[in-house]
Amino acid sequence: MRLLITGGLGLLGKEIDAVFHGRAEVRTTDREDWDVTDPAACRREVDGFRPDVVIHCAAWTAVDRAESEAEAARLLNVEGTRNVARACRERGALMVAFGTDYIFDGGSSRPYREEDPANPLSVYGKTKWAAELALREEGGDHLLVRTQWLFGPAGRNFIGTILEKARRGDALRVASDQVGCPTFSRDLAGAVRDLLGAGARGTVHFSSKGETSWFGLARYVLERCGLPAALLSPARTRELPYPAPRPVYGVLSKEKFRAITGRSPRRWEEAVGEYLEMIDSEGGAR
Ligand SMILES: NC(=O)c1ccc[n+]([C@@H]2O[C@H](COP(=O)([O-])OP(=O)(O)OC[C@H]3O[C@@H](n4cnc5c(N)ncnc54)[C@H](OP(=O)(O)O)[C@@H]3O)[C@@H](O)[C@H]2O)c1
Repeated sequence: MRLLITGGLGLLGKEIDAVFHGRAEVRTTDREDWDVTDPAACRREVDGFRPDVVIHCAAWTAVDRAESEAEAARLLNVEGTRNVARACRERGALMVAFGTDYIFDGGSSRPYREEDPANPLSVYGKTKWAAELALREEGGDHLLVRTQWLFGPAGRNFIGTILEKARRGDALRVASDQVGCPTFSRDLAGAVRDLLGAGARGTVHFSSKGETSWFGLARYVLERCGLPAALLSPARTRELPYPAPRPVYGVLSKEKFRAITGRSPRRWEEAVGEYLEMIDSEGGAR
């Protein structure tokens, strides 16, 4: 298999690269090599490498900054996805793209299924939903994996921020009214490998098993790392200074993932625990 990766230096892109290393002929690109907002560059890359599969990890992921830089977020998420999808369709390559629970409004009382209606609250969520529509409109062979609350060694993430602040002794006020599920970028990359192995197409949700709030995640991280829980206090989202609205409930159903691959994701506590051991043994907090 010939595999081409966009956004290959990002949180997910690096894990995708690692998971397919040795299993496929992989070309990993980042913004320097291939700007996905440039349609000609998309054609050039896909025509040049002739991939069987393109895994599109490049994206605008700064949720709050998207509120004030909406056009830049739209250009990267919507037009970038459309450009890559078009080049893939023209070349007959399968495109794998990533979606988010932020396309939902959080009003559900059970985990979101793939076919549930979207109603994004934030600019970021709107661009990611428009990207999904663009991918489907292009009409090429594709797999869209929606995920949430990613953490991993290859980029800044919530766990790293909490650890940094707690080690400085900063007080931490964290939202206790947003519920979702922390997901290790390494587990997501493994899920993509399994989904491709099973021939999956269309939309599939993947995150860890279980659910928690950002406050619950922060408390777990502090406990595991022996840092003082007294630094931490719960807050309502509306009391916090975040420009972007977020769904209060975003848990994703993994029923379809289980039916396709025959396996269940592990619990978020186990995944977070492994990540903390990993960064501890490497002597750093990300
Ligand atoms: N992170 C999460 O919690 C989360 C949750 C749900 C879904 N997702 C989705 O998962 C996917 C991967 O996210 P991630 O967290 O790995 O993102 P990330 O860490 O922000 O990585 C995105 C990568 O895209 C690159 N990039 C930016 N502009 C580009 C351009 N014009 N052309 C090519 N590459 C460009 C970035 O490079 P620079 O660093 O140089 O800008 C970066 O390496 C995205 O579709 C995201 O929406 C993420």
